[in-house]
Amino acid sequence: MIYFNGSLVPEEEAKVSVFDRGFLYGDGLFETMRAYRGKVFRLEEHLQRLFHSAQIISLPIPKTLKELEEAVYATLKANKLKDAYLRLTVSRGEGERGLDLPLSPRPNIIIVAKPLPHYPKRWYEEGLRAVVVKERREKDSALSRIKSLNYLPNILAKLEAKEKGADEGIMLNRDGYLTEATVSNIFLISQGKLLTPSLKSGPLPGITRKTVIELAPALKLEVSEREIKLSELMEAEEAFLTNSLREVVPLTQVNGGPIGQGRPGKGTKAIAQAYSRAVEDDS
Ligand SMILES: Cc1ncc(COP(=O)(O)O)c(C=O)c1O
Repeated sequence: MIYFNGSLVPEEEAKVSVFDRGFLYGDGLFETMRAYRGKVFRLEEHLQRLFHSAQIISLPIPKTLKELEEAVYATLKANKLKDAYLRLTVSRGEGERGLDLPLSPRPNIIIVAKPLPHYPKRWYEEGLRAVVVKERREKDSALSRIKSLNYLPNILAKLEAKEKGADEGIMLNRDGYLTEATVSNIFLISQGKLLTPSLKSGPLPGITRKTVIELAPALKLEVSEREIKLSELMEAEEAFLTNSLREVVPLTQVNGGPIGQGRPGKGTKAIAQAYSRAVEDDS
């Protein structure tokens, strides 16, 4: 069952118009979230990011945060799922022709709940192999601060990574500093410090990124958010990627060379365990 503008309907009935601006222009937003034992981890933060992003792109969401929270749980329940992948999409809906915003906007709100995808064990046990891709993230663009429906750069980045035999693509910004991977934020561990590109560098303000930053001090890891050079990644002791679905995934190879020892390190394992405990405590 799909949540579609206030109702739960069978998948075949959840259809948007060919004039929907999400379809025509990528004009909309989305959130991907994970439910553990019936509880959606950091749901409020996800919805806050959604509303904040909506403000940035002048998209009036015709529901309150509380109503969307209830809608997410109703979707989970209607699909009899406890551990699940959730996606909430808000498109600007149909508009008059052209780019001008519709005078009477009627956004479409869609929530999908599915069983969790199976991620390869190898990712967690051996780590991901990444390459730095040609596609750059625009650090000054609004698109880099919101989770919009414009994922073509990330899609091209993933394609390039796959063509080069890698699991992931790492994107730099125009100044050559690290930003993130195609669907994840990136962290480095070097000399007892946890480093991640500052939001000014142009990564998505990830909810998992925020959670990891909050968890680090208890693990005696000092956190630094700043511009990070590619050479610092190549010389890091450890690196890992984060997102809400995959959680904490070690990154052990970049451009064919090992990161640190070329296998998941102690710091990454400690962060992954702390994240699992945070989930456990929450659900
Ligand atoms: C481009 C990009 N960066 C980072 C993330 C991680 O965000 P979060 O931790 O909120 O899932 C995602 C999630 O899908 C993403 O698409």
